[in-house]
Amino acid sequence: MKDKIVKLLRKIKYDYTYGLFDLFRRRERSLLTVYEPTSLRHVSVDACRSEDALILISATYPAVEDHPHTLSRLTEGHAISPMAEGAIRTLIASCERECGETILFTSTYRTLAFQSSIYGVNPYAAKPGESEHHSGLVADIKVDGYAQRRFIMSKTGKWMAKHAHEYGFIIRYPLWGEKKTGVDYEPWHLRYVGKPHAEIMYREKLVLESYLERLEQAPFFRFGDTVISAQRGDTLVIPNGVENVCVSQNTRGGYILWFTIPSAE
Ligand code: DAL
Ligand code: ZN
Repeated sequence: MKDKIVKLLRKIKYDYTYGLFDLFRRRERSLLTVYEPTSLRHVSVDACRSEDALILISATYPAVEDHPHTLSRLTEGHAISPMAEGAIRTLIASCERECGETILFTSTYRTLAFQSSIYGVNPYAAKPGESEHHSGLVADIKVDGYAQRRFIMSKTGKWMAKHAHEYGFIIRYPLWGEKKTGVDYEPWHLRYVGKPHAEIMYREKLVLESYLERLEQAPFFRFGDTVISAQRGDTLVIPNGVENVCVSQNTRGGYILWFTIPSAE
């Protein structure tokens, strides 16, 4: 009898904790305001700093080859894109300090062949090619006793849901985004998108698919001191006076660029 009650209480706690706090979190609107530069100049993609942090890999946009570049080793058997290495190390150190729990990687970069080997075995594994683990921008994590769905019941799981964006990461498959992503809630799957994109997505409650669509609604958007622009073609346009442009492929046939607003504007 006691066992049954404990089991029932655990289930209630699980259901109650199962991402609901994030589901009901208030969505901030209009963080992105339309920006209208006074004069423009052309810039080639090659002249920008390449930071492919906004790549979208999904059932609609599958990866067709393994990651072409060298990845940074995190721990035995775990690697991540050099672009995300500093951010994941800082995120994990901050979280461990705050929560007092040791974080372990359960999965990071996966080749297409590796995804094939777990597809159909691991119930959460996407089809080979359709997993964003192929991007090298993902870390699945757990703490002792709290893996996969139970992860959100840990102090670390809740802390990550609230703070990962401050370090450039998003919970890629939130409970409130299941319809749009086509993937069930995965509180343990952290995806690097970089700053300031992670903050915008978190505060406006946009999954990556929705964020990329949103950026296509105007030529330039402003968020604080940053201008963000979705463009097509290999010749991009930027306001006069702008230097240090970052660019990411967006896998939707174009690029996302971002830069600090010119001081004269
Ligand atoms: N679990 C996620 C969807 C993956 O396999 O990429
Ligand atoms: Zn994952």
